Amino acid sequence: MRKPIIAGNWKMYKDVNEAVELANGIKRSVFDVENVEVVICPPFTDLSDVGEMLTESNVGLGAQNCYWKEEGAFTGEVSPGMLKSVGCGYVIIGHSERRQYFGETDETVKDKIKAAIDSGLIPIMCVGETLEERESGKTMEVVRRQITGGLDGFSEEYLDSLIIAYEPVWAIGTGKTATSQQAQEVHAEIRKLLADLYPDTFAVSRRLLYGGSVKPDNIENLMNEQDIDGGLIGGASLKSEGFTDIIKATSRLYAEKKD
Ligand code: PGA
Repeated sequence: MRKPIIAGNWKMYKDVNEAVELANGIKRSVFDVENVEVVICPPFTDLSDVGEMLTESNVGLGAQNCYWKEEGAFTGEVSPGMLKSVGCGYVIIGHSERRQYFGETDETVKDKIKAAIDSGLIPIMCVGETLEERESGKTMEVVRRQITGGLDGFSEEYLDSLIIAYEPVWAIGTGKTATSQQAQEVHAEIRKLLADLYPDTFAVSRRLLYGGSVKPDNIENLMNEQDIDGGLIGGASLKSEGFTDIIKATSRLYAEKKD
């Protein structure tokens, strides 16, 4: 069975004091959860302090972005090695907000995935269609292009740690979750695509997260779907209680499934 992951994407929220407080609340509340991989992704400025707070805990630390070079004259950018040095184990790559507002493309996503893996970070690669693309029947065409473009030329061994998050753009921050069936449908297609591109074992073992208005009251339906292995949570990850409710519900379901 694939171990579920619940990852919080804090976006551009929480200064360093708020971040340490929230991380501490989460750490205390989930200290005994073993069957869910928990990750939080605060803004860059919080990573160092939060990283220290999470030392020796079962909560992993991730960044929301990185550059693809290790160092150099790239004003304003942060390298994967720098993220590693403050305790990051993960990095979100190609979030739709980065694609939409900061010009990221499948090509830059590919470069960033490579840089992340070369530095030993686990990439959480985001894909997903806009409302217009969904309504014109292009969901899979878009997701296929993002996956084949972003992973072009990498072997399955190289991508061993890769996590993919399917986040329909129309469901992010809108309160509109894809129904669990809609999400499952795309997740199953993604797994099929991975099986076309790589050996079956790679596709079967890949963890596919759903993101887009995940809340404590819809996580169970989502997690009950066969190909959904966790969530990338934005708004609901900004409060300790809501986020840890999501983690605990996931943990409970996973324990039941295993029995
Ligand atoms: P949301 O964001 O949960 O607020 O919809 C998810 C994301 O953007 O990763």
